Amino acid sequence: MRVLAVASQKGGSGKTMLAAHLAVQAAAAGAGPVVLIDVDPQGALPEWWDKRGRESPALIRTTPERLASDIQTLRQSGFCLAIVDTPSAVSQGVAGVIRLAGLVIVPTRPEGEAIHAATGTVDLCAREGKPLLIVGNGTGAGAVLAPEPLSRLAQNGPVAPHVIPQSAAIAEAMRGGRTVAEQASAHPVAHIIADLWHYVSDRMERNFRRTVFAVPRGGVAAGFGRRGL
Ligand SMILES: Nc1ncnc2c1ncn2[C@@H]1O[C@H](COP(=O)(O)OP(=O)(O)O)[C@@H](O)[C@H]1O
Ligand SMILES: [Mg+2]
Repeated sequence: MRVLAVASQKGGSGKTMLAAHLAVQAAAAGAGPVVLIDVDPQGALPEWWDKRGRESPALIRTTPERLASDIQTLRQSGFCLAIVDTPSAVSQGVAGVIRLAGLVIVPTRPEGEAIHAATGTVDLCAREGKPLLIVGNGTGAGAVLAPEPLSRLAQNGPVAPHVIPQSAAIAEAMRGGRTVAEQASAHPVAHIIADLWHYVSDRMERNFRRTVFAVPRGGVAAGFGRRGL
């Protein structure tokens, strides 16, 4: 089971929105069964999930302390992908989540102060030695980042080529327990999310292979990395 965390210390940057959209998209793309894991006591994700009345993606609520054993159980239950939504904080709890993730998505609004605020989360990923991917969220028309915010974002780490525009369709879908693609599959945002998932998934697989191949030769798990790849 792959574990993807969505983290950013800045509230309102789009963590819950992105966790929900990527989970639904991943399931639609055949990466499932997918489980959303909420470790944010605010519970915005369960609120969205309750409105869905659908089984997929699954959702569990837990705490950072219980996350490792929950991941173990979910893995044994046959889930292939877990996406963890985190509170807007730089804390021991969020560090613990990042430690268990294969890749960390850091959604960032492309304004000066928000870009600066992302550095706390970026530093946390660096301390835990975890790969991250910054995703610009809430740009104006055109779903492109202007050169200046893009270069500032890129100082923090790799930036996804797909930028999510500010869109009433996103807010509306989230309020209704849906994603944009579930509301209107031809909507431009639906295509952006589909492309973003493709990119994230590709990156996650590459990181996973790199980690597995990094198992030292002659160690306890020698040769393990090559089996089944
Ligand atoms: N690109 C966007 N366009 C429109 N609304 C958005 C967009 N991204 C997030 N939102 C809305 O903004 C609010 C905050 O987003 P949310 O995902 O809850 O942020 P976080 O989890 O980081 O605090 C939510 O109401 C969400 O639906
Ligand atoms: Mg949230």
